[in-house]
Amino acid sequence: MSEDHRSVRPPRRTSHEGESSLEESRRFAPETSRRDFLGLAAAWAAVAAVAAAAIGSLRLPMPSVFPESNSQVKLGPPGGFKPDSATYLPELSAWVFRDEQGLYAISSVCTHLGCIAGREPDGRFKCPCHGSIFEADGKVVGGPAPKGLNWLAMSLSPDGQLVVDKVRTVKSGTRFTA
Ligand code: FES
Repeated sequence: MSEDHRSVRPPRRTSHEGESSLEESRRFAPETSRRDFLGLAAAWAAVAAVAAAAIGSLRLPMPSVFPESNSQVKLGPPGGFKPDSATYLPELSAWVFRDEQGLYAISSVCTHLGCIAGREPDGRFKCPCHGSIFEADGKVVGGPAPKGLNWLAMSLSPDGQLVVDKVRTVKSGTRFTA
């Protein structure tokens, strides 16, 4: 009887065997590996966020559209604009005038919130959105608009066409002679 009891006793382990089984149980413990995975995922998410922010900040100073290249519109030969004429150009949202001093272009984009001001029979401009009123030379005389309508820069292209720049402004009253 006592011999049987001795035979079922588990064999004694050396101290080395005990360490290896402890290592294995640590390696396969599910909570530790999940924690590691979540930690790694969080670290990679943080790295990705910093990289995206860095790339975004590099793009900030650069406009997506280069206004200088797209803003100039050719209008044909300057002689096409007759003396004392007023011509509306929808592609510019602007009027081109010729008087005895020369050519000039006034933007009809309201300086309040950007609606298109209409030109009245008396030559003044009136904004349909909030009622700003501008003189024939673009000076603001009523409504919420903070300043007058913009006068746009004009030039002559190498092939002799009149060019108006939608984004470059000149001082009110400036004439272009061509
Ligand atoms: S947008 Fe012209 S008055 Fe407001």
